[in-house]
Amino acid sequence: RKFNVAVVGATGAVGEEMLRVLEEVDFPIAKLVPLASARSAGGTIEYKGEEVLVKELTESVFEEEDVEIALFSAGGSVSAKYAPFAVEAGAVVVDNTSHFRMDPDVPLVVPEVNPQDIARWREKGIIANPNCSTIQMVQALKPLHDEYGIERIDVSTYQATSGAGKSAMEELVNQMQAFFAFKLEDSPKERFPHQIALNTIPQIDVFLDNGFTKEEMKMVNETNKIMHDTIEVAATCVRVPTLRGHAESITVTCKRDVDADAAREVIAKGENIVVMDDPKNSVYPMPVLCVDKNETFVGRIRNDIYRSNVLHMFVVADNLRVGAATNAVRIAQKWVEMESE
Ligand code: A2P
Repeated sequence: RKFNVAVVGATGAVGEEMLRVLEEVDFPIAKLVPLASARSAGGTIEYKGEEVLVKELTESVFEEEDVEIALFSAGGSVSAKYAPFAVEAGAVVVDNTSHFRMDPDVPLVVPEVNPQDIARWREKGIIANPNCSTIQMVQALKPLHDEYGIERIDVSTYQATSGAGKSAMEELVNQMQAFFAFKLEDSPKERFPHQIALNTIPQIDVFLDNGFTKEEMKMVNETNKIMHDTIEVAATCVRVPTLRGHAESITVTCKRDVDADAAREVIAKGENIVVMDDPKNSVYPMPVLCVDKNETFVGRIRNDIYRSNVLHMFVVADNLRVGAATNAVRIAQKWVEMESE
């Protein structure tokens, strides 16, 4: 059976990637309904070699188009306002924004880690897609947690500009061009708290009273919701001047002693994980190697010098795919599987 599928935010950085992933996995689509703001309505997007009209996101469009699956990626306030209309029209919503993630009635799903939670979709009609940095981290750590019991995670991220959308990628490119024209001072600096070209910014989203940012607390709270556990997490989220692909330096403290070679094998067995770990030949994951890939890459797996229960590693994934579009499509695929049983 095929489904009427809406992509909300179809003209955005993640929305465009959703269309590509849906096409690549040959998702069972009866009718594709790309939705965006009035600014883009009337234009077209390409799907399977055909031009498809972009429609305006309205309260009634889900009903009118008989939408059965709605993938949302147009910002938290858009999801807050319009997801209920999609649900009302009978659709299941897979929401990529943070709006519903910590709602106890909304499952937060990484299909490789907690696919069983999809079954709870009926509670609100919504399944939430976690934050991009959380997804790649829990994918890499789930096999280790099952085997060694993770007690604590200390993580620093190196996050690409595309995590903040297309206009943020453009701002980096514009600043680089301005730099080479000796005009960097005059280039707009609007999408980040500071200049992003030739810089690294240890702030993503706003600061909270506890000294961590909202992005950092997402990694704390979402990790525990997905893993159904209470793991200590300390995150430092940093924006770096790359376009695509988030990297993470992760230190895990396990309940048991863990040997790096054994851990490497355990991690390699994880679903959609590729171990890339040959440091002598300078082989390790990097953002440029993960673009357009649907796997999460893990390398630099090594033991701590002092403690035999502590392990270090470097994890990289395409934030627009693994961290957003691919995860959302995988959720939708599992939902289809479950609903057709
Ligand atoms: P549009 O292109 O018409 O502005 P990005 O994350 O790359 O900035 O993309 C955001 C996506 O969300 C775009 O597709 C954008 O559409 C869409 N969007 C933003 N605000 C709204 C809104 N109020 N209603 C519908 N779509 C929106």
